[in-house]
Amino acid sequence: MAYNGASVVDEIKNRCNIVDVIGRVVTLKKAGANYKGLCPFHNEKTPSFMVSEDKQIFNCFGCGTKGDVIEFVQKYYNLDFHGALEKLAAEYGIDISKSGFGDDSKRAALYELNREAAAFFYRNFTTKANPGYAYMAKRGIEPATMRKFGIGYAENDWNALRSHFEAKKADKQSLIALGLLSSSKGKEYDKFRDRVMFPIINTRGKVIGFGGRAIGDGTPKYLNSPESIVFQKKNNLYGLNLTRTDISKEDCAILVEGYMDVISLYQHGVRNVSASLGTALTENQAAMLRRYTNNVVLCYDADEAGQNAALRGMDILHKAGFRVKVFHVDDGKDPDEFIKKNGREAFLQLVKNALPFADYKISLLRKKLDLSTTEGNVTFLRKTAEVLRQLSPVEADVYIRRIAEEYRISEGALRREVEGGRTEEKPRRREEPAPAYEPEQAEKGSFRKEQGEKGPDRGEMMIQRNLIRLMLEKSSYVPLTEPYRDVFTDPACYRIFSLILSSYRPDRELDLLSLTDSLEPQDGALLQNICRTVRLAGRDQEIFKDCIRSMDEKKRSKREKEIITLLSVLDDEKDGEEMNQLTLELMELQKQKNKGGWKG
Ligand code: GTP
Ligand code: MN
Repeated sequence: MAYNGASVVDEIKNRCNIVDVIGRVVTLKKAGANYKGLCPFHNEKTPSFMVSEDKQIFNCFGCGTKGDVIEFVQKYYNLDFHGALEKLAAEYGIDISKSGFGDDSKRAALYELNREAAAFFYRNFTTKANPGYAYMAKRGIEPATMRKFGIGYAENDWNALRSHFEAKKADKQSLIALGLLSSSKGKEYDKFRDRVMFPIINTRGKVIGFGGRAIGDGTPKYLNSPESIVFQKKNNLYGLNLTRTDISKEDCAILVEGYMDVISLYQHGVRNVSASLGTALTENQAAMLRRYTNNVVLCYDADEAGQNAALRGMDILHKAGFRVKVFHVDDGKDPDEFIKKNGREAFLQLVKNALPFADYKISLLRKKLDLSTTEGNVTFLRKTAEVLRQLSPVEADVYIRRIAEEYRISEGALRREVEGGRTEEKPRRREEPAPAYEPEQAEKGSFRKEQGEKGPDRGEMMIQRNLIRLMLEKSSYVPLTEPYRDVFTDPACYRIFSLILSSYRPDRELDLLSLTDSLEPQDGALLQNICRTVRLAGRDQEIFKDCIRSMDEKKRSKREKEIITLLSVLDDEKDGEEMNQLTLELMELQKQKNKGGWKG
C-alpha cells in the first residue's frame, strides 16, 4: 500500500505510538494520564520528561524540548525529517516507497550509482600508488581522515569509470544525469579525470554528488557534480553527515568556505564544522543547521570575496534566527592553512574572539569610511543605525552606548537614527529624547532577576513609567490600565497612579500641571521627568500593547515556575489528579509562551 506525502505522515503518527517509540529508549512510568521519565535530552535526576499517550506528544519541563513522535525520533537519533520517517516506517512495517518520502526506485538507483562510483574512486585511491593520494598526503591529510571522508581518486583516463559501469550494465543516461560521464558525438567518457574526489554525502548517508579537485594547479581547481534530482547544492552542506552530532554537542557550527577547510579542521579536532558547497549560503542550508544549533561562527577567507560572502551569509543566518559571529584567519589564506600552521588551540582562540554580527559589520564600515570627514561620519552614523535596527531593542541599546563612546559620536544622534528608522516618524520635540521604552527590555531584564530581590528592576520600572506616560497622553488608557494596578510596585509610581485614577474623568484629558501640584515635590518631579523623557513617537497603541503583553508574560512565567516546583514536590501516588491538571496547565502556558512575542 502506498500513501501520498501528507497521509504518510499521518499514517506514521497513527501507527507508531509515541509511548512505544520513546519507551524503547527511556524508562517510562505511568503518572496519571501521562507517562514520565528521565529526559534523554538533558541531564537530570528527577524526571521532568512527560509523554502524553492521548495527545501523542512529549514535553520536557526541564529543558523545554517537546514534539510529536517524528520530532522525537529526529532529535534522539539525530536524523532529518525524512530520515525519521524512514526509520519509523521501517520499524513499523509501513510502506512509504511511493509517498515521495522514501526513495522511489529512480532515486534509489541514482544513489546506488553514486555509491558505486565513490567506492570505485576509493579503491583507486587506496589500493595502489596514485597522484591523488600523494597530493593529499603532501597536504598533511592522514589516512584515517581520508577514510572518514571517503576520499578517492579519479584516474587520468577517459574510460576508467565508464568501463567499470559498462561491465555492470549500468544505465548510461543515469550516469550522465549524475555528471559522472559526459557525452560527445554519441560517445560517453569519464568526466572526472586525474582528480581527488570528495564524495558529498547527505545526512541520510547517501552519496549525492562529488567535488573533484585538480591535482596541483590544474583548472578548474574544483569540478563539482551538476545539480540532479539527487543533488541540490542549496539543500546540502559538506561534511554535515559526519559533523552534525558534534555541532549539536558543541551547540555551535563553524562554517567555512572549502572542502579542504572542513577536512583539515576535522583532522585537527575541530569537528563542529561544515561548508556550503562552493556557493553562497542559502536559506535552506540555514534551516537545516537549525536542527542542530542556534549558533554559527562564520570563518570565511579574509579576501574581499570572503568578506562579502560573510556579510551575505550573516544576514541569512540572522534572519533564520541564529546568533552569528564572524572572524577571518589572520595567518594564512584560509582555516586549513591556519590550523596546519598554528594548531587547534590557536584556531579555537580565534573562534572564541569572533565578532558578533553587529560588531563585525560596524568594524567593516569603520574600515571603509573616512571618519575624519563630516561626510564619512554621517554615513557611518546612518549605516551603523541600519545595522543596529536589525537587533532587538535590548541589544541595540547596549551597542548605542558603546559605539557612541568608542567612536565619539553623539549617543542621542545615534539613538534617534536607530529609533527614527524603526518608527519612520520624526520625534516631535527638538530636545534630546531619552530612550523610548521597549517592553522586550523589561521582560528580559526581569527574567534574569532572581526571585526574592527587592524593588522593581529596570524593566518593571520602564513598564510603570510608560503606563503613566500613556495615561497622560490619552486618558482613555486609564481604565485600560486599571486592571493591571499590581504592576505599580514602585511606591512613587503607585502614588502617581492612584492620583491619576482619582483625577480621571472619561470626558477629558489629564492635566499635567494640576497633577504635579497635587503631588509631593519629589513625586511631582518624577512625573515631570516621566513626561519629558518617555518618548511615544506616535506609537502609543503599540507601546501599550507591548506593556500588556509584557505584564501577561510575567504573570505566565511566574505561574510556570510555580507549577514546575509543584510538580517536583507533589507525590505521584497521592496527588496524581492534581498533577495531571498542573501538567495540562503547564503545557498550555508553554504553548502560549511559544506563540507569544518572544521575539528579539
Ligand atoms: P584548496 O585550494 O584545495 O585548499 O581548496 P579550498 O577548499 O581551500 O577551496 P577554495 O577556498 O579555493 O574555494 C572554496 C570552495 O569553493 C571550494 O571548496 C569549492 O567548493 C569552491 N571552488 C573553488 N574553486 C572552484 C572552481 O574552480 N570551480 C568550482 N565549481 N568550485 C570551486
Ligand atoms: Mn584552501
